[in-house]
Amino acid sequence: MKKFAVIFLSSVMVLSLTACGKEEEIPNTSPASTQTEVSSEISTEAETEQMESVSESSAESESQETEQTGENASGEHILIAYFTVPETDGVDTVAGASRVVVDGEVLGNNQYIAQLIQQEAGGDLFAIETVQEYPGTHDSLLEFAYNEMSENARPELATQIENLDSYDVIFLGYPNWNADLPMPLYTFLEQYDFSGKTIIPFTTHGGSGFSRTISTIQEIQPNANVVEEGLSISRNNVPDAQSTVTEWIAGLDVMN
Ligand SMILES: Cc1cc2nc3c(=O)[nH]c(=O)nc-3n(C[C@H](O)[C@H](O)[C@H](O)COP(=O)(O)O)c2cc1C
Repeated sequence: MKKFAVIFLSSVMVLSLTACGKEEEIPNTSPASTQTEVSSEISTEAETEQMESVSESSAESESQETEQTGENASGEHILIAYFTVPETDGVDTVAGASRVVVDGEVLGNNQYIAQLIQQEAGGDLFAIETVQEYPGTHDSLLEFAYNEMSENARPELATQIENLDSYDVIFLGYPNWNADLPMPLYTFLEQYDFSGKTIIPFTTHGGSGFSRTISTIQEIQPNANVVEEGLSISRNNVPDAQSTVTEWIAGLDVMN
């Protein structure tokens, strides 16, 4: 009986110690990496994927924070928003095309100029993308864009700026389409309030320059400071635009 009591008491002690151990684990103060390791051991494949996507997105937001080092001389933060539709057929890729190939990657003309601006000025890149994909071939794209313009369409955007308040200077790039802004630019400009911010337009084109687009931007955003010395580059000169971009940025009042 005595032996049974000893065994019983020992068991109670062991059980209560185990319970204490578990309770201490709840407010886990171990480093986040350790916690991830532990939970990943017991996670299902789906959970692992979910965790990977969470860690990817936190890496993305981290890199956004790190990237947001682009400032002008007054310490204002810079966003470089652009719309582009690289054409995949016909025209030569070196000059006169609606695309540039950099390290094997096909970039639209305005995407490439946006990247050059970022190299010079810093800031965050933002691609204005639509839900409806545009045709990549020249003739179909012309027809599609023409119809959109005739209908005065406002194509739905697939990408959103989440932290517009943190930017003061917005470089805004787009191709000249039918001597006007591409219709997604109307959606974009009507969707956000850029009051008090500086908008610096840039465009690539086949000969028309900006047409009236800078005035149009000013009309849609009357309380923004729209810089009239925007950068207009013929598509023929896009592949060699680096020094032009450098000089233009250096000459902008808002950057000095
Ligand atoms: C639908 C469409 C309409 C265009 N209309 C004009 C125009 O009116 N004037 C002009 O100079 N270029 C015009 N272009 C040429 C583009 O502005 C030029 O190819 C530009 O560099 C394309 O930029 P992206 O590669 O960033 O889209 C047009 C191109 C397309 C596809």
